[in-house]
Amino acid sequence: MPDSGLVEHVELSAADLLLRPWRDADAPAVRDALRDPAIAQWNPQGGDPIDDEVALLWVRRRADWSTGGHASLAVTAAADGELLGSVSLHRIHDGDASIGYWTVPAARGRQVAVRAVVRLTDWAFADLGLHRVELCHAVANPASCRVADRAGYLAEGTLRESYRYGDGRRYDEHLHARLATDR
Ligand SMILES: CC(C)(COP(=O)(O)OP(=O)(O)OC[C@H]1O[C@@H](n2cnc3c(N)ncnc32)[C@H](O)[C@@H]1OP(=O)(O)O)[C@@H](O)C(=O)NCCC(=O)NCCS
Repeated sequence: MPDSGLVEHVELSAADLLLRPWRDADAPAVRDALRDPAIAQWNPQGGDPIDDEVALLWVRRRADWSTGGHASLAVTAAADGELLGSVSLHRIHDGDASIGYWTVPAARGRQVAVRAVVRLTDWAFADLGLHRVELCHAVANPASCRVADRAGYLAEGTLRESYRYGDGRRYDEHLHARLATDR
């Protein structure tokens, strides 16, 4: 981790995927993605309805890594640049971080989320020098549990009514994590 806390923008390749920093031009695709009912439920943005302005602010916040607290990447098809999803390290601090993700409906079921999570996690350990990355998902979201398992995040326990999701209800969550020292 740089002493300044600054995390420099990166592009990460993973076979037919390219993980790259967000751009203003992604805003229309992000607007559509954030309106997807499953993403609205499990990756709630809070606040205002998702319109063009909200989507543009969303990509600009994620493109600005200057605080050192997050590293957020668009997951795209390397061949044609199509937006497939989002993967982010949040709360980067003192060797720890949390990871979050979504994929657009058309990209689901192709291991896009698993491969993006694995690639970003490998980078977090190898290049950012992190030691522990946590992943939380609602117990009611089994697809996300599968992503966590397949990406090598060990289940560590259940957090009771720990997070308020898109429908305004609190849900139990599974906490998973990977350590840099895991095999
Ligand atoms: C969860 C999500 C990211 C998975 O994305 P994806 O690109 O389809 O994931 P992958 O293809 O990498 O892997 C999905 C795995 O989940 C499994 N899966 C999909 N839907 C499932 C369901 N309803 N129940 C159980 N498993 C399910 C798939 O079979 C696959 O497992 P497999 O590799 O053993 O076949 C995507 O569905 C999504 O964005 N959902 C809405 C938002 C969300 O849940 N975000 C995560 C918040 S923690």
